[in-house]
Amino acid sequence: MCGIKMKKELSVSAIKEGTVIDHIPSNATLKVVEILDLKGIRSIISVATNLTSKTMGKKGIIKIGGKNLTKEEVDKIALIAPNATVNIIKNYDVKKKIKVSIPSTINKIIKCSNPNCVTNNEKNVATKFYVLNKAPLKVRCHYCERNMDKEDISLL
Ligand code: CTP
Ligand code: ZN
Repeated sequence: MCGIKMKKELSVSAIKEGTVIDHIPSNATLKVVEILDLKGIRSIISVATNLTSKTMGKKGIIKIGGKNLTKEEVDKIALIAPNATVNIIKNYDVKKKIKVSIPSTINKIIKCSNPNCVTNNEKNVATKFYVLNKAPLKVRCHYCERNMDKEDISLL
């Protein structure tokens, strides 16, 4: 009985210190891995997708030992996984639970779709967008004032 219960719970093991990104839509899980800079990390990184979730049907989860996310990384996650939860783990406990949210201005992170925009032509001008609507996502470029919908938006 006990053995069966343990088997059922052992999908991805707990981490001691680091970050757990939970409630990722299954099909966005690998995209989230891509946007995080995980190359130099020496601790355990676990990525699981198509896990059964009571609330989401299927979900993905990413556990990164020894890493704290930057605000920029959390904002990027919000753009592709708007319902994700970022858990900060300290000594096996969930110390902080952050519900990601799309910020009201987006600095860097995404590109302007206007080829003539200064941000696509000057190396040292970082992109900046005002969020006009969060769901569905609609943003306006600070520089050329082009409006972009979700389908025009691509990550930098
Ligand atoms: N977790 C982990 N290592 C730890 C502590 C927690 O990997 N040392 C993971 C859990 O497996 C879970 C997530 O971090 O996926 C959040 O943990 P917790 O808040 O305890 O779980 P829930 O209550 O299910 O979270 P939520 O309410 O956000 O669904
Ligand atoms: Zn622009």
